[in-house]
Amino acid sequence: MKYFLDSAKIDEIKYAYNTFGIDGVTTNPKHVMLSGKPFLTVVRELADWVKEEGVEGWEKFPISVEINPHLEKAEEMIAAAREIAAVSPNFVIKIPCTIGGIEAARTLEKEGIRTNLTLVFSDAQAIIAAKNKSLFVSPFIGWKEDNGEDCRDYIANVVKIYKNYGWYGKTEIICAAVRTAKQIVDCAVAGADIVTAGLAVYETSFKHPYTNQGIGIFCDAWDNTRHE
Ligand code: E4P
Repeated sequence: MKYFLDSAKIDEIKYAYNTFGIDGVTTNPKHVMLSGKPFLTVVRELADWVKEEGVEGWEKFPISVEINPHLEKAEEMIAAAREIAAVSPNFVIKIPCTIGGIEAARTLEKEGIRTNLTLVFSDAQAIIAAKNKSLFVSPFIGWKEDNGEDCRDYIANVVKIYKNYGWYGKTEIICAAVRTAKQIVDCAVAGADIVTAGLAVYETSFKHPYTNQGIGIFCDAWDNTRHE
């Protein structure tokens, strides 16, 4: 399962890439706002970073950039997506799963601009993403679980449906807004292709109190051993 970092902050992306080898990046208007920088500055910084970092195969290192969320009509979304996609070949354009967004993503994929159908909350929405050949579909499991739903069946159903129709691995399933180590594991058990989460979620998920306890035990043993 691939790990994407959900962030628009270059220092976080750089750190996550060099520390645990993230496989891609997802951004959204909220992350861009939190970077404190203008939208176009962030877009250019993201495009420059993959080259400056020397990311292997950078042209295919996926960075999802979302279009202006105010846009509703397919033609407006398509125009916005083309502008963003022209900045860097590794950009994947995030389009909301609305009727206009579905039409926009379908057209963009036909012309070779890769899309990430986002704000997906149901199996039916996940099906249309695959039928229209989006590169990614983003079921937001964190938001659902924050509201008391258990998403294990949801992810498993999307995986099953994709396998039923030969879409699995073609439209990759990004479980989005992942908040906990348990959710990462749930996604992996269900067969999701990718999880996307913030830096703190990954860092917490890689820690375990027994690891620290074990280091303490071994330090004591080391200190009570002769080193001649
Ligand atoms: C996914 O692609 C989204 O950017 C993301 O997960 C949004 O959710 P959050 O900001 O609430 O985590």
